[in-house]
Amino acid sequence: MLDVESLITDNNKKYPGDGMDTLVIYFSYTGKTKLLAERKAQELYADILPLTLKKRKGALWAYTAGCFAAMKRKTAELNDFVCDFSKYKKFIIAMPIWAGMPAPAMNNIVPLITAGSEVELIFTSGSGDSKKSGKRYTNLFAVNGVTVTGVTDIKAKTIK
Ligand SMILES: Cc1cc2nc3c(=O)[nH]c(=O)nc-3n(C[C@H](O)[C@H](O)[C@H](O)COP(=O)(O)O)c2cc1C
Repeated sequence: MLDVESLITDNNKKYPGDGMDTLVIYFSYTGKTKLLAERKAQELYADILPLTLKKRKGALWAYTAGCFAAMKRKTAELNDFVCDFSKYKKFIIAMPIWAGMPAPAMNNIVPLITAGSEVELIFTSGSGDSKKSGKRYTNLFAVNGVTVTGVTDIKAKTIK
């Protein structure tokens, strides 16, 4: 089993300068955010970094311990990944909302984004409303010198 996530980058597919300094990072539990993030990366010719759980856990875990971790802003047990974050100026971070907050994988990423970078947040959720998360994580990134330039809310059922 592969336990190191690889950064997907295809230099041949890129137009000169297009999306070269952008990295799309996502976590997805049921596949919606993955679909969205992959499309976004393709659109921008950006690199993409999937975050995956070390052990795929069931729904019971997700709705109990997983949600608790999201609410308490705890990190997730993710597969290792190799990525030079300093290579990028812009990050698009796509996360599902769990119990009103981004899934715990978000908290693994916040400290890794280089100061001076720009971040665009995309949250997918059943309700399509994550205003609280947007504000909270905009402030958390600001503490690290990272600017959140936009927060987009997307209803899961619109992702097809
Ligand atoms: C454990 C869990 C908790 C969730 N909590 C919420 C929530 O609080 N509010 C909401 O609108 N949607 C909630 N959802 C729905 C997901 O945010 C939504 O379906 C999301 O798009 C799933 O993304 P994914 O398919 O990439 O995992 C929850 C889903 C799961 C699995």
